[in-house]
Amino acid sequence: MPAKIEIAAPAKINLTLDIKGKRADGYHELETIMQQIDLLDHITIESASPGSIRVDSNSSLIPHNEGNLAYRAAALFLDKYGSGAGVKIFIEKNIPIGAGLAGGSTDAAAVLWGLNRLLDCGLAKADLLEMAAQIGSDVPFCLLGGSALARGRGELLEPLAPSVPLLLLLVKPDFQVSTAEVYQQFDLTKVEKFPDTPAFLESWQHCDIIGIAGHMENVLESVSVRKYPEIALIKEKMKKLGALNVLMSGSGPSVFGVFKEKGLAMEAMETMKTSYREVFLVSSFEERGGNNY
Ligand code: C5P
Repeated sequence: MPAKIEIAAPAKINLTLDIKGKRADGYHELETIMQQIDLLDHITIESASPGSIRVDSNSSLIPHNEGNLAYRAAALFLDKYGSGAGVKIFIEKNIPIGAGLAGGSTDAAAVLWGLNRLLDCGLAKADLLEMAAQIGSDVPFCLLGGSALARGRGELLEPLAPSVPLLLLLVKPDFQVSTAEVYQQFDLTKVEKFPDTPAFLESWQHCDIIGIAGHMENVLESVSVRKYPEIALIKEKMKKLGALNVLMSGSGPSVFGVFKEKGLAMEAMETMKTSYREVFLVSSFEERGGNNY
């Protein structure tokens, strides 16, 4: 049994996000294509005194208690399978917070995966996925990794075979968005454009980058872009800088542009950096079966 384990926790973006309606449990019925990207938090888990959970981070912006999804993941896991074990978790935070990039969810997924290893529990993927769904809607995808079509609250996952590698310029404006508030304010009648998910998937299967970019759509833009015009501004700027298309991820406010050429993407990055602090040139991340399943 290892005494310490280190896990890379990738961020995600939503290449499409559609809402099919509101559910009896208050959540929204989703149809979304999710993609991991190589913007990584690094999680270290070590054994600690029995029954204890301690979360530390290089970031002072994240909670170190139950408010942190990684803490909740550890509590849930240890309660069920810990046999009195205690852990110390360190989160090296690189993924922007409150950004629509599943930063908290991916840390939680990494903790579930890591504890299964560290404590040598031998739990099956299905067991971990079930716990993941109890922690948050994005956590199951973060555990599965790669690319997937998600339905339900986000927990019903169909893995997608990798398509053409995506080169993405990601910009996180200097404010955070509450996912719960965005969903609360969502009004189907205010949506101007819905994604055509089957058309997106066809482009995906044919590795057609123009089709993939052209079919990216997110209905939550109808809430977040209206509330924060800055998001529309970033989208326009990135389009002018040569992105094939630009979309908001999740409930926002992060925005990503798909680029065909690295040179153009790098020039765009330099330009965006003159106005924004958090700008990242990233790629799709397809590593399954290593840190993730
Ligand atoms: O599941 P999670 O706690 O990450 O979701 C955050 C909030 O986003 C929920 O409280 C809910 O308001 C909203 N949500 C939703 N429908 C989903 C996923 C999230 O309404 N499918």
